[in-house]
Formats: sequence, structure tokens, C-alpha cells
Amino acid sequence: MSFELIWYGHAAFGLRTAGLKILVDPFFSDNPASSTTAENVEADYILVSHGHSDHVGDTVAIARRTGATVISNTEICIWLKEQGVGATHAQHIGGGFHYPFGYLKLTFAIHGSRLPDGSNGGNPAGFLLTTQEGYKIYIAGDTGLFGDMKLIGEEGIDLALLPIGDNYTMGPPDALRAVKLLQPRHVIPVHYDTWDVIQQNPTAWAEQVTNETRAVVHVLRPGQSFTLGSGRGASE
Ligand code: NI
Ligand code: MN
Repeated sequence: MSFELIWYGHAAFGLRTAGLKILVDPFFSDNPASSTTAENVEADYILVSHGHSDHVGDTVAIARRTGATVISNTEICIWLKEQGVGATHAQHIGGGFHYPFGYLKLTFAIHGSRLPDGSNGGNPAGFLLTTQEGYKIYIAGDTGLFGDMKLIGEEGIDLALLPIGDNYTMGPPDALRAVKLLQPRHVIPVHYDTWDVIQQNPTAWAEQVTNETRAVVHVLRPGQSFTLGSGRGASE
């Protein structure tokens, strides 16, 4: 078995594991960096890290079309129900749940979470997924650097997805410090270049991470995939 991740641009991903399709923060329609559209993706589950429009994105339309179960915090799940989403599963920070695709825990994130219509989006989160194969995937979400990334790293991270865009989230120097706290085997930088205000040089960041840590950095273009275990694409 293998774990495959496709980066759709910004902070939107598709995960393939245990024969299931999982979308994370599916922001396609208004995303200048998107490599796909809301009509072209399938999903069994959708994970929403926080309420901002570049993360909730097309969740409502995709969930209504596919019947996917949306996993997020309680406040966002209540809001999604009000928008006509049928299946939701609410969790909260520090809590995990065993899904058919693996064990998913919501992690702390330092950020905001206001929903597009002004509703309260609860607390922002990241995700720590332990796949059925035993891979640990840390999706930081939108966050600044925080010292408890060291605690998350103690779980033994195979792959970390970290924002490097600056302005709204960690910038490259703090993302480098995050890698040092998390000590992941692999890292993929995200949440950059979507707009001018978060323009970054991911290759320069990758060089610095390579020089100062043992993590392997994979700079993807939107639409490219990364695989842990057997499989195609940029693999370990
Ligand atoms: Ni945000
Ligand atoms: Mn964002």
C-alpha cells in the first residue's frame, strides 16, 4: 500500500490512501494557482482546517455533489450543515478519531477562522493523520511558528506540509525553524505564490532546509504528486 498526495496549489491537497479519496482545504474556484476545478474532483472525505475562504473554498459544492463527509471543528460543521452539507464529522483540537482512511487528530494552529459570511469559524486547526499503513502526515494548516511543534514531531513525522508564504502564516525563516522542531523525513512547502503578497522562493528555502536539517524537501508544482511507499510520481 502507498500514500499519495497531490498538491492542487495554495493549501489544497488530494490524498489517496486505503483506497479512499480525501480532499484537504479544497480551494479551486477563486484560486489563481489551482490545477483543477470543483467539478473535476472526487471525494469520500473533505478536511477543512479553518473558516477562511481560501480553505473552505468549494467545500459546500463538492460535498453536496459527491456526498463526501466533511471533517472540521464543531463551529464549521454546524455552518456547513446550514449550507446544505449532509454529512459532517466534528472534532476539536487534541482529539482524534479512527476513520476508514486512518486516525486523524486535530492539532493546534495560531491563526484566525472567520467564515466567508462572517460566522464564527471556531479555532483554526492543523491535521495529524496516521494512515492505515502507519505513515504520519502533518498538515500544519495556516499557522505561525509555535514551540509545541516539537511535541507533534515526537510522534515521528514522515511528511510535513508547511506554509512558507509569510504575511498570513510562517515565512521561510520560521518554516525552517518548524522543520527543526518537527524533524520530518519529508517536507512540502505550501501556501505561497498564490498572490503577490505571499510570493516566495521555495527552491532557496529547500536549499536552506537541506543544509541545516535531515529533512528531504519536495518543491511541487500545482498538479504534481508525491508518494510514500510504492507508487509513481515524486517518491521517497
Ligand atoms: Ni487562513
Ligand atoms: Mn490561508
